[in-house]
Amino acid sequence: MSPDDLKALVRTVPDFPARGVQFRDVTTLIAHGEGFAAAVEHLAERARAAGAEAIAGMEARGFIFGAAVAVRLGIGFVPVRKPGKLPVATIGIDYALEYGSDRLEIDPGAIAPGQNVVIVDDLIATGGTALAAAELLRGAGARVEHALFAIDLRELGGAAKLRAAGVAVEALMD
Ligand code: PRP
Ligand code: ADE
Repeated sequence: MSPDDLKALVRTVPDFPARGVQFRDVTTLIAHGEGFAAAVEHLAERARAAGAEAIAGMEARGFIFGAAVAVRLGIGFVPVRKPGKLPVATIGIDYALEYGSDRLEIDPGAIAPGQNVVIVDDLIATGGTALAAAELLRGAGARVEHALFAIDLRELGGAAKLRAAGVAVEALMD
């Protein structure tokens, strides 16, 4: 399926979760077997080209795409979690979202020193989530040079912020 076909599978919901936000909903994309498989395949090709040694995905939507890409490539998956979920001593970071703020945590022991970890998420908006994840993963010793998304909301400038932090960004659609 082409990127235009995939784009047609994303539902737009106005004013969710706050007035003025155009919510790009991927549940309709992942409910479509052929579309979901094509999106994962495209992301996996890019992760392979980036030399991924592990995939990191952010809770919750990043788990859906990231874990699928990791399985496709036969490499490990690092869950970047919302607070209080991991059963070990974590490192964490607070960050701002298009519609609020949150916190992410990882198990620093999940990363091997210098490991090439590629970030995968459903969508980049302001880039706050992905930047926070990159900082956390780097703090745990990862090499983070690539981030992959199904959707880039370009007008929110997230990809430019990530690039300025030394992370190359690719997305299947904008
Ligand atoms: C969404 C999305 C990204 C993030 C993008 O997650 O899945 O992770 O927002 O926004 P940003 O580029 O402005 O940081 P959300 O925090 O809504 O959580 P969810 O995956 O649990 O729905
Ligand atoms: N995460 C941040 N902004 C979003 C948006 N507009 N649609 C879906 N997920 C988002």
